[in-house]
Amino acid sequence: MFRTKTCGELRISNVGEEVTLAGWVQRARKMGGMTFVDLRDRYGITQLVFNAETNADLCEQSNHLGREFVIQVVGTVNERSAKNSKIPTGDIEIIVNKLNILNVSDVPPFTIEDESDGGDDIRMKYRYLDLRRNPVRRNLELRHKFAFEVRRYLDQQGFLEIETPVLVNSTPEGARDFVVPSRMNPGQFYALPQSPQTLKQLCMVAGIDRYFQICKCFRDEDLRADRQPEFTQIDCEMSFVEQEDILQMFEGMSRHLFKTILNIDIPTLPRMTWANAMKFYGSDKPDTRFGMEFVELKNVQPDNASREIVESIFPEGFSVFDGAAYIAGICCEGQAVYTRKQLDQLTDFVKRPQVGAKGLVYARVQEDGSVKSSIDKFYAPEVMKQVADKMNAKPGDLILILSGDDAMKTRKQLCELRLEMGARMGLRSKDKFSCLWVIDFPMYEWSDEEQRLMAMHHPFTSPKPEDIPLLDTDPASVRANAYDMVINGVEVGGGSIRIHDAKLQQKIFEILGFTPEQAQLKFGFLMNAFKFGAPPHGGLAYGLDRFVSLFAGLDSIRDCIAFPKNNSGRDVMLDAPGKLDQSQLDELCLAIDIKE
Ligand code: AMO
Repeated sequence: MFRTKTCGELRISNVGEEVTLAGWVQRARKMGGMTFVDLRDRYGITQLVFNAETNADLCEQSNHLGREFVIQVVGTVNERSAKNSKIPTGDIEIIVNKLNILNVSDVPPFTIEDESDGGDDIRMKYRYLDLRRNPVRRNLELRHKFAFEVRRYLDQQGFLEIETPVLVNSTPEGARDFVVPSRMNPGQFYALPQSPQTLKQLCMVAGIDRYFQICKCFRDEDLRADRQPEFTQIDCEMSFVEQEDILQMFEGMSRHLFKTILNIDIPTLPRMTWANAMKFYGSDKPDTRFGMEFVELKNVQPDNASREIVESIFPEGFSVFDGAAYIAGICCEGQAVYTRKQLDQLTDFVKRPQVGAKGLVYARVQEDGSVKSSIDKFYAPEVMKQVADKMNAKPGDLILILSGDDAMKTRKQLCELRLEMGARMGLRSKDKFSCLWVIDFPMYEWSDEEQRLMAMHHPFTSPKPEDIPLLDTDPASVRANAYDMVINGVEVGGGSIRIHDAKLQQKIFEILGFTPEQAQLKFGFLMNAFKFGAPPHGGLAYGLDRFVSLFAGLDSIRDCIAFPKNNSGRDVMLDAPGKLDQSQLDELCLAIDIKE
């Protein structure tokens, strides 16, 4: 046998056994007549001992072992005199009597230990070395377990895992497509799927009833910590269901995952309408690990988030507030101790271009209940006192207020401020999980860029039946049978009940600005399928990378992907994307001249 044990499994009970191990040299230390080597494999680290007194030749050989050499050793398990309680094999060591060097290694460009000295770029370039490190490997192990438990749950619920093609046509999920030229069809292109959305709907027409797939999706969009150009979805669809069936089924899956992987029992998921999420958190993915909800102090233009007009609590006097359409604040418990300097930093924070507010108004509630604010010169003391009362602020609390002429924009700015304060106040711990469903999304959102209504989810999402009449009169206010699962402010998944009626689908395409010809050209295959008995159906897709990152407490989904791309969409290890030879380009009829 190449090895009889791994480097992670020997314990005090194995003392006296002869074992064969194989792995990488993490470190070698010479101490007097002894050489100690830490031997590493996927399962752990075991200390090897080479003793010059008992075997001088072997010890001499071990002194030439470099970092990351691959070796095989035979030896006897011995109880250590100086035990290491930090590792599970810390009670034992192997007295080596045979050493076989299987491969040598160049000096690695960074230390392959839990705390590495390598920066991000170098670790990405040598990702296969980075993956030898425990923290990175552990994330892949977690990912494996996660996908395994997803399959176990869905299998138990009767779902079939079905593979759908990767060379398809453009799918309308809102991002740009990655395209692949077809050599056999000159001038024509496949698109890689942004999701298998239409294919899974066709599976429902085919009578599959319960489909799932853990699949790669491709979106050519600007990258962020929670976005990769290729990422993995847990894509699911069910027939003969209503929204409630889907929420129950997938709440069950989340419960199963939390229990089996983290041993956490999650409570029933609260449901929040999209309108309330926007009104109270300024986000369709609210971080509900903490409260600090928005209190509206003025809102004169009813919109989809709030149909209620809130007359200003402030009398005329401060031109910024007088001219604002929307004013709202948050109450930060116990934070009246914030110094002027800290408040200036917060003001700078909201004024950053990424947030975009013009300024920040603050008020501290004093011990005697009076309020000291940055706008005291504009208002009588009772006004700020009223504000504090409306916001339920107590002595010692800090009130932060933003205003603007566009309620939605101001809400988003206040959302950033709320998250920043939540982080500063230690309310966003990674070991705490707060899950919820956000429901009743609007069907459409207005695009300034395109100057038209766009599908908020995708064009196959069904409107809420009671809102269907509004399609003709006020489409912007129509709500969809669409839902997202949100955990700790991250949209981990989302889906909808689909339209299964060809006529309604045609109408939705019209509202989205497609002529019947364009709709037929792009989605004819789906509408034709719907003519042959499409069952009512719906589903959702989770972002596997996002879900796993949350479980692992990671800041970026990159860390749970074996070979991720950087923020410019490059794989720096493979140096992809790369150029093609002229001959390849010619064969693909791509008229690019690469001579320059
Ligand atoms: P949606 O576009 O909301 O829905 O995507 C579903 C989930 O996929 C994850 N996700 C991403 N993860 C990493 N990088 C990305 N670039 C990225 N884009 C999306 C998110 C998101 O919640 N076909 C529909 C689903 C349906 O209706 O059934 C869809 O793709 O976690």
